[in-house]
Amino acid sequence: MASESNQSVYRATTTAPVNIAVIKYWGKRDTTLNLPTNSSLSVTLSQKSLRTLTTASCSANYPTEDTLNLNGKPQEIQSSKRTLACLSNLRALRKALEDANPSLPKLSTHPLRIVSENNFPTAAGLASSAAGFAALVRAVANLYELPQSPRELSRIARQGSGSACRSLMGGYVAWRTGELADGSDSLAEEVAPASHWPEMRALVLVVSAEKKDVPSTEGMQTTVNTSELFATRAESIVPQRMDAIEAAIRDRDFPKFAEITMRDSNTFHATCLDSWPPIFYMNDVSRAAVRLVHDINRAVGRTVAAYTFDAGPNAVIYYEEKDSELVAGTVKAILGANTTGWEGAFYEKLTSVTAPGVALENIDSRVLDVLKDGVSRVILTGVGEGPITVDEHLVTETGEMVSQ
Ligand code: DP6
Repeated sequence: MASESNQSVYRATTTAPVNIAVIKYWGKRDTTLNLPTNSSLSVTLSQKSLRTLTTASCSANYPTEDTLNLNGKPQEIQSSKRTLACLSNLRALRKALEDANPSLPKLSTHPLRIVSENNFPTAAGLASSAAGFAALVRAVANLYELPQSPRELSRIARQGSGSACRSLMGGYVAWRTGELADGSDSLAEEVAPASHWPEMRALVLVVSAEKKDVPSTEGMQTTVNTSELFATRAESIVPQRMDAIEAAIRDRDFPKFAEITMRDSNTFHATCLDSWPPIFYMNDVSRAAVRLVHDINRAVGRTVAAYTFDAGPNAVIYYEEKDSELVAGTVKAILGANTTGWEGAFYEKLTSVTAPGVALENIDSRVLDVLKDGVSRVILTGVGEGPITVDEHLVTETGEMVSQ
């Protein structure tokens, strides 16, 4: 809710979560509207571990240009088409409200001051654009008191960064590719809330990359334009997988969910390798994580863990809470309890675990050293809720930035 102070500085603050796709978005059919070539599906991760906090404020007294400050640094928004697209869409919706109700303050004419912070270190190598654009859109929508649903706002967040549209909701979220040329039906929707399957856990293995990866926006265009495998994935593989993973989520069928997740990550990276010139996001440490998961599953005799990789070498391993010792306990034994990140809301039950849940003789011996040397930190988290409105403003009542 926006609040008015003496100097008429209006403010609204929200948090927004990170999401990790299990059916990957990779490829655009329209780069201006940021429309995808295929639907995708993700798990929203808990904000107890990872979140962006954003305050949107506006005032007739602010200098003329909109400003955005991210993690203490002013951003060049006038040259960021994506940010400008989000802000102009949100302003247009506010303007429509003001036109319909002349008693409303004309916030659409005020310059915006937006301040945003991530609670996770940039060094974690996690793509923060999804949480960042979701928080920006949610915060400005709250400031403007827009009646639009998260689903409708996802149309705007999508233009900031495709994956951001899925961070406007909690739990299990699909982004439907849509059919219309204007993109009006390319929206995110909740497939199931976090409470439907709250036992889902995610263990992020943060792998340090020597070189910066090809940014996803650029990488996916290379794939669309050059990979022969790509069209098959987008047109025939993903639609079937979307149906199958939605059924697995509905039935809380982890082995099915896990197999589709792993296969889709592999297919996505196969299209990267099939691009020309080829793109490599996974490295030796990533591949060791793949082996580890398959070895754990084989040793246990059922599928208890699933890996997935985005446009970088970090592994995200999904598992269910009941299998924490088998999965996270084994990873903890391999990396050592001193690795940064064995802490937080989801760690409690693992505190006393020192022995691996799966005897290390079952794991390919080459994997152990590669992981120990190559994983710089872990983030232990789980499925969580969508954006949350909070009172912890990053802009004071008089419009000053709060220094952290
Ligand atoms: C591999 O959402 O970062 O993480 O729309 O160009 O900003 P832009 O791309 P972005 O791509 C994410 C790609 C991915 C898969 C996914 O999250 O679905």
